[in-house]
Amino acid sequence: MTTLEMIEEKKRGAVLPAAAIRAWVHQVARGEVPDYQASAFLMAVYFQGMNGDETAAYTRAIADSGQMLDLSPLGSRTVDKHSTGGVGDKTSLVLAPAVAACGVPVPMLSGRGLGHTGGTLDKLEAIPGFRAELPIHEFLRIVQQVGCAIVGQTPNLAPADRILYSLRDVTGTVDSIPLIVGSIVGKKLAAGPDAFVYDVKVGAGAFMRTLEDARLLGHALVRATRANGKSASALLTAMDAPLGQAIGNALEVVEAIESLRGGGPADLRELVVELGGEMLRLSGTESDAATARARIGRVLDSGRAAEVFAQMVAAQGGDPHVVDDVALLPTAPVTQEVRAQEAGGVSWIDARALGDAAVALGAGRARVGDVLNHSVGIQLLVKPGDRVERGEPLAVVHAASGEALRQATEAISTAVAVGDPAAARPLIVERISP
Ligand code: URA
Repeated sequence: MTTLEMIEEKKRGAVLPAAAIRAWVHQVARGEVPDYQASAFLMAVYFQGMNGDETAAYTRAIADSGQMLDLSPLGSRTVDKHSTGGVGDKTSLVLAPAVAACGVPVPMLSGRGLGHTGGTLDKLEAIPGFRAELPIHEFLRIVQQVGCAIVGQTPNLAPADRILYSLRDVTGTVDSIPLIVGSIVGKKLAAGPDAFVYDVKVGAGAFMRTLEDARLLGHALVRATRANGKSASALLTAMDAPLGQAIGNALEVVEAIESLRGGGPADLRELVVELGGEMLRLSGTESDAATARARIGRVLDSGRAAEVFAQMVAAQGGDPHVVDDVALLPTAPVTQEVRAQEAGGVSWIDARALGDAAVALGAGRARVGDVLNHSVGIQLLVKPGDRVERGEPLAVVHAASGEALRQATEAISTAVAVGDPAAARPLIVERISP
């Protein structure tokens, strides 16, 4: 089929043959489809959708539009996790070493942050010397030696996604379930693991704001992954308030290290234990979910996960001593507490507003290519439901200048509401598992 025929058919709601979708995606990757026609096709999909078979074919075509990594040298079943992005989400920093410490290799390809959600690579680059951009052979060697590595996507993996995503970004077609699934799962399939756990965030600070949308995305991610011969499950997890208490790169590394040593905030640990348990189950090393979760808890409490993290950091050029001495991480020149204006219960912490405040401080990017300040951010001192007295500190701002401090203080004062606490939803909202 020509691109014009594809547009005409999809515009009328037809189901497209898998072979036509595949040929079209590969033409896009080769630069043979003009942007205006590719954009028109994306818009037709946005309005008419794709069924399960079309989505699976589109996903597969994105995956094999470039290099497909061969992870067989790693010798055992490998598992990765993908999060749809949240505020204060430093889970990968704890999860990859914890799962690796249980004997399951975790080759993790990760991204950088844009907008109010942070990126795993940005957080790791707060560690002096850490290298996130490594050639594939070095990435695989580190996974073999240490059990895990976390690196950036290489340009030859899923090249069709880069082209299609940049068009979606400027044509209002990002929020289409089949296009999101093709983009996320296509990249994951190209990276080669055998199984994937998806953490689909839901709530005010998430890409999917309603449970209904998060559920649709979770089911579609799992279906497209399984249709392409890999194991998958998804957890729908709450992202109304930030995860943990730190927002900002070096601050989040400190919190991740606390969690790797068996401490840290309860919600971060719960998420690591749940996702890690699911990864062990999908890898085939544990069949019982409760036993798998207990095993993740043990490697956190014994310090074994922290040891693997230090080894991974060293192998990727970073200073492993940060694990024992977080003072080696960059610190901001000015800090200030934000205090409660009245007494009461913390009723709401607006993850989205705090994510935006962290970007304004320099912890995240408003535009692709913005340079980050790894030392700045926000440290929350309260969680929803906590009781506070008037004048009690709610948060500490870590800033590069007095003016940035003033703006963030104002934003945090409105983002943390004190009044009558509403019932928060549980962290694990729903599970989609085989
Ligand atoms: N993340 C991706 O990688 N792709 C999308 O389409 C949306 C979120």
